[in-house]
Amino acid sequence: MKNIVLIGFMGAGKSVAAKELAKRLKREFFSTDALLEKKEGRPIAEIFQASGEAYFRKIESAVVKELAAREGIIVDCGGGVFLNPENSAHLKKTGTVFYLFATSEVLHERTKAHGHRPLLKVADPLAKIKELLKSREPFYKQADHQIDTSGKTNAQVCAEILEILKNE
Ligand code: S3P
Repeated sequence: MKNIVLIGFMGAGKSVAAKELAKRLKREFFSTDALLEKKEGRPIAEIFQASGEAYFRKIESAVVKELAAREGIIVDCGGGVFLNPENSAHLKKTGTVFYLFATSEVLHERTKAHGHRPLLKVADPLAKIKELLKSREPFYKQADHQIDTSGKTNAQVCAEILEILKNE
């Protein structure tokens, strides 16, 4: 059985969708961020701060490889996972990949209340979101399917994903 892989920018709704899909399909779900934090025994913000982003990406790739080797699971990927071609190749090989997207404004609304994302701890987070999204979109668009989450509930997003999977 293929994995279901959710990718996209911070605030796209990957984690809530992964949880809901796992419940509905009675499958196990994993978050690359959560696994990475467990492996390291410290939060992402601390890993970025103490060891740097390059170190974080190295551990992230190891986690991705482990998860892509499994079957029938749901994978909630951190926003930077699909930027590394090795990661995307592993994930695409064993899973159906969904790119969850929204406008920069919506992503900003959804992320601004939380302070745990080091990349958005800047003076102008909306400008940062726009800049990162522009450079990341070509990578995200290599997903098998794209789901617009702007103005939709998590239930609606999951229903769309389930409908696509039904027809695969
Ligand atoms: C990141 C996204 C975060 C986390 C880290 C870096 C990114 O995950 O992996 O802060 O590069 O977009 P979420 O997309 O789950 O917030």
